[in-house]
Amino acid sequence: MSDFRFEDKVSLDNIIELKGVGQSYDGGQNWIIKDYDLIIEDKPAQGQFVVLLGMSGSGKSTILRYISALQEPTEGQVLVHGKPVGPDTHISMVFQQYSSLPWMTVLDNVGLALQYQGVSKKDRDEKAMELIKLVGLEGHEKKYAMYPTLSGGQLQRIAIARSLLANPDILLMDEPFGALDIKTRIQMQELLLELWEKFHSTVVFVTHDISEAVYLGDDIYIMKYAPSKIVEHISVDLPIHRTRETKRTPHFTQLVQHVEDTMMKISAEK
Ligand SMILES: Nc1ncnc2c1ncn2[C@@H]1O[C@H](COP(=O)(O)OP(=O)(O)OP(=O)(O)O)[C@@H](O)[C@H]1O
Ligand SMILES: [Mg+2]
Repeated sequence: MSDFRFEDKVSLDNIIELKGVGQSYDGGQNWIIKDYDLIIEDKPAQGQFVVLLGMSGSGKSTILRYISALQEPTEGQVLVHGKPVGPDTHISMVFQQYSSLPWMTVLDNVGLALQYQGVSKKDRDEKAMELIKLVGLEGHEKKYAMYPTLSGGQLQRIAIARSLLANPDILLMDEPFGALDIKTRIQMQELLLELWEKFHSTVVFVTHDISEAVYLGDDIYIMKYAPSKIVEHISVDLPIHRTRETKRTPHFTQLVQHVEDTMMKISAEK
């Protein structure tokens, strides 16, 4: 298999760049990630929707942790807007595990980013309520954000509402809809597309669901594992504005099939 190369994509205006990134947890004997390159161009008036696909354990969550500065790679560089990532980079992350603060109410959890920005309690409650309604949690806003008072899927919706309210430049989403029932999942996919068209954030989205990847993504990058590296790029040539009807088109089905075949080919070569 020929390695996917980014050289022809290099430009000065990249919002996210991973260059020669490697991860070893045993002093360099084994590499979980090696020679990993990812370049996401900045498209300020448009945003980008990038999806990472790969087998379980291929390092997808680790890559998101690098971009959010929660973890440093063993080697290589992680740049956002051309600078090394740091605590002041304007990034939101929705984690694979529920990540709400159980000692705070749903309302306060959703308004958290605005609290950090110094927005008054009244204003942030108002904005948080709008998002709470959008994600279908109205009536739960006074409850503490803990299990089992709220279900797993409801807790995940709090995290999604919180990350969207922060209106970040970069939104990292790690299997955000994995725990949701099908109706909520479809509603959340549509909500995310709607908000994305409005805010033009750069989204880096991880999922195991190929149909979700094609529906949401503009660019799909497929990772091999042991060591992890991007080996395929699939450009999703569907209209920018997508609806559930898009999923009914033959081209959508063809794209899903193509991504599935590519993933099977990569895992067979491993
Ligand atoms: N502290 C650590 N020590 C050793 N190995 C680790 C450590 N942290 C992560 N790993 C390994 O790094 C690899 C990548 O993990 P990561 O969680 O990024 O995978 P993933 O692609 O997100 O998987 P999934 O799809 O299951 O969420 C895994 O094999 C994991 O066991
Ligand atoms: Mg993961």
